[in-house]
Amino acid sequence: MAGMAGFHERPKAELHLHLEGSVTPELMRELAPEVSAEEIRGRFAFRTFAGFLECYKWIVERLRCPEDYALVARRLLDSLAQQNVRYAEITISAGVVLWKKQEFAPIYHAVHREAARSTVTVRWNLDAIRHFGAEHAMRVAELAAEQVGNGVVSFGIGGDEERGPAEWFTDVYKFAKAGGLRLTAHAGETAGAESIWAALRLGAERIGHGIRAIDDAALLRHLRDQNIPLEISVSSNVATGVVDSLRTHPLRRLYDAGVPIVLNTDDPGLFNTTLEREYDLAASELGFSETELTQIVGNGFRYAFADSAGRP
Ligand code: HPA
Ligand code: ZN
Repeated sequence: MAGMAGFHERPKAELHLHLEGSVTPELMRELAPEVSAEEIRGRFAFRTFAGFLECYKWIVERLRCPEDYALVARRLLDSLAQQNVRYAEITISAGVVLWKKQEFAPIYHAVHREAARSTVTVRWNLDAIRHFGAEHAMRVAELAAEQVGNGVVSFGIGGDEERGPAEWFTDVYKFAKAGGLRLTAHAGETAGAESIWAALRLGAERIGHGIRAIDDAALLRHLRDQNIPLEISVSSNVATGVVDSLRTHPLRRLYDAGVPIVLNTDDPGLFNTTLEREYDLAASELGFSETELTQIVGNGFRYAFADSAGRP
């Protein structure tokens, strides 16, 4: 890990980061003092992807008002600023807001206001839940389209790939694109390479995770030649059990195949990680050199959806 301390100082960008997934057990206690520390510990002790989704849902259910979302944003932005993250595209699970029957606009205004006060340049991605279906996703895309020009740059889908195949969302992605949104999609996290191909057919310009591309040589070439980056989160993949261990994470092989890579935290509160730590793990567990990681840091700005992301 020699020399890696430099990654603290380095200006960085985060492109795959869920606002609600930044809630730590300690912040959960502040948000919901009626819940015992023991219950929170238990909820955060998932070992599978299904367990992770349960925990995520449990957290989001406890964000009761715009002020709760604002507090989460404030803490996240403070942490990012402290790590010298200069630019962040932060995902809001707008689909879960709708599912809770909360109004989205006041929540968005609350977090947008927090971002305006931060030294971090923030753009927002609105995410629909795959397994809630296409109608639901269209409502999220409509909300996103309403905020184009007001901080929202993209639309994406997350949740369970197996229970919400990409084909359902063809019209939704067409609508989002026509509305001026950039396109991303979680794919190839729990499902195989075909799920990534399906996300690409939707028009996804970046792939969330996409680690199963490693099983498909033609797909690796396609991602490399078409310059489509994978938003990789090593700690996330280990914590949800979609890879066996840090050492066997396909990141090294994806990079060596020439696929553009961006490093991210995904849900730092749930995976007990930071962007600095993701860089440290790539160095210590996967043998990335400082030169390689410097290139990956650059990718965080290069593959940003906002022109104004800048490059330090
Ligand atoms: N994958 C799927 N659903 C999610 C994720 C993720 O990385 N983070 C929050 N919801
Ligand atoms: Zn994610």
